[in-house]
Amino acid sequence: MTTNSLENRTAFITGASSGLGLRFAHMLAQAGARVALAARRTERLEAEVAAIRAAGGQATAIALDVANADAIGAAMDEAQAALGPLSILINNAGVSGEGSALSLPLDRLDQTFDVNVRAVYIAAREAARRMIDSGVAAQGDARIINIASIAGSVQLPGLTAYCASKAAVVSMTKGLAREWAARLIAVNAIAPGYIETEINADWFATAPGRAQIDGFARRRLMDDDALDQTLMLLAGPAARFITGSIITVDDGQSL
Ligand SMILES: NC(=O)c1ccc[n+]([C@@H]2O[C@H](COP(=O)([O-])OP(=O)(O)OC[C@H]3O[C@@H](n4cnc5c(N)ncnc54)[C@H](OP(=O)(O)O)[C@@H]3O)[C@@H](O)[C@H]2O)c1
Repeated sequence: MTTNSLENRTAFITGASSGLGLRFAHMLAQAGARVALAARRTERLEAEVAAIRAAGGQATAIALDVANADAIGAAMDEAQAALGPLSILINNAGVSGEGSALSLPLDRLDQTFDVNVRAVYIAAREAARRMIDSGVAAQGDARIINIASIAGSVQLPGLTAYCASKAAVVSMTKGLAREWAARLIAVNAIAPGYIETEINADWFATAPGRAQIDGFARRRLMDDDALDQTLMLLAGPAARFITGSIITVDDGQSL
């Protein structure tokens, strides 16, 4: 019988300054993992690190713009120096990239793909290299969890760039899982439906946003805790036989 304890694991979470990533950091810390919180807004990270430490956890804040590809490996080295060998990567940082294809500025398109796709690929391989070098992978403890979206499998109006970026995350998850299967690195994704965070709060405050919610089968957004148990499943020992899976948690929103 395996337990979900993450004692002696070090997790690196991108986009940990708000929303889902922040919640994931607290969840993993509560389960005993040492957590590295990475994002650009470091003042927020410092406050959350202080809260995790006050609750008895181990945490560190890492300044990181994931669009700066060269910075990702160095940020992981910084995390490992503070907290020990990396065993869990949560590839969560994301931007929404909304706008009509007829007028979307190309730099917005580039930003969406730099953050949502390129950085996910680079962070995954930087993490995998370290997991292999440290022996964590050979022990069967290596977990890479990509945060995709239902947007990876359904088209959302006005979000073509975002949907395409999340479809790429789904594809990469399966491809990297296949590449690293024999290394015992588990690579999986969560495809969430909508939870209100900074990425979408403005939209859901509008009349069309509320109309979108009314169109969902259950006419609601998901609660903040909707992904907790899925994250714990994929981060913990039970995931040693789960790799290349995309777990949709969407309250039926994509039906
Ligand atoms: N909320 C939903 O309904 C939902 C549904 C499906 C999928 N998702 C996905 O979940 C992930 C988290 O989104 P969220 O809802 O939690 O939104 P959020 O509250 O806006 O959080 C986004 C996070 O990404 C970080 N980020 C953005 N650009 C970055 C960059 N260049 N470098 C480093 N960090 C960056 C932000 O940190 P800084 O600004 O401090 O850098 C922030 O911590 C995203 O990948 C999103 O696509 C969300």
